[in-house]
Amino acid sequence: MSEPNSSDVNSSQSNLILVAGATGGVGQLVVAKLLAQNYSVRILTRNEDKARNMFGDRVEIKVGNILEPATFNEPDALGEALQGVSQLICCTGTTAFPSLRWDFTNLWQPINTPRAVDGEGIKNLVTAASSDLARFVFVSSCGVLRKDKFPFKLLNAFGVLDAKLEGEQAIKNSGIPYTIIRPGRLIDGPFTSYDLNTLFQAKTDGKKAVVLGTKDTLNGETSRIDVANACVECLNYSTTINQTFELVNTGNKSTPTNWEQLFAQL
Ligand SMILES: NC(=O)c1ccc[n+]([C@@H]2O[C@H](COP(=O)([O-])OP(=O)(O)OC[C@H]3O[C@@H](n4cnc5c(N)ncnc54)[C@H](OP(=O)(O)O)[C@@H]3O)[C@@H](O)[C@H]2O)c1
Repeated sequence: MSEPNSSDVNSSQSNLILVAGATGGVGQLVVAKLLAQNYSVRILTRNEDKARNMFGDRVEIKVGNILEPATFNEPDALGEALQGVSQLICCTGTTAFPSLRWDFTNLWQPINTPRAVDGEGIKNLVTAASSDLARFVFVSSCGVLRKDKFPFKLLNAFGVLDAKLEGEQAIKNSGIPYTIIRPGRLIDGPFTSYDLNTLFQAKTDGKKAVVLGTKDTLNGETSRIDVANACVECLNYSTTINQTFELVNTGNKSTPTNWEQLFAQL
């Protein structure tokens, strides 16, 4: 493969990457890929013990909740997590339908809903980010522009696609260079969702080709491995700056994924 055409990582001053949602399925793979490529990695998590068990001391851990922006009384955990960071990769998420992940401490008013995490939480990260951030990479979802069509109408029953689109728009309006990745239904481990693909442990075995699109017209399943690869690879290509694209896996993969070629289509 030829050399990347331009790189945030090479041009940025600190080369410290913050991964929000690092303990999730895609997030764990993003961290593994960054570490394999010798990046300095900081992660944002609500659960330090879980993160320490996963990553040991290979990453710097900051504890914070994206639903809790700085207030008069509270320390600015998000601002601190973003201090000195050159790129942010955000793979946070919750379940599209009610589950324990919504945090029903108050039965009638769950806390960690899609509207909160994918909408308000992303706005809080944007507010906390400095204008020096070289890239905000955000994992959104296929279907954000097709909420009136099956199966997205169903998926959006509790507002996950509305919230993802709100999050996307907050990032775009911020002026921070961004890359927004819209995967289809996630397959391949780590299996962290509560859905049929998790039940059946649906896998690609790395054998399916990556297809990108830009108008939210693609349908299908997406390997968590390829979402994580795209999150990290996009940092190396200026063609992905201020781009939004869907990513699905379809057809057999005959050669290794050529990200440069894929990103050049955007
Ligand atoms: N499942 C699908 O089929 C599908 C389809 C399209 C797009 N997506 C999107 O793909 C991304 C990755 O999905 P995944 O299944 O790999 O995710 P996941 O395993 O559900 O992980 C979600 C992560 O978000 C973090 N998180 C949740 N609420 C948070 C909060 N309030 N503050 C800080 N962190 C919070 C969790 O971290 P801690 O618990 O450590 O704090 C966890 O690491 C998500 O954005 C998801 O919406 C999923």
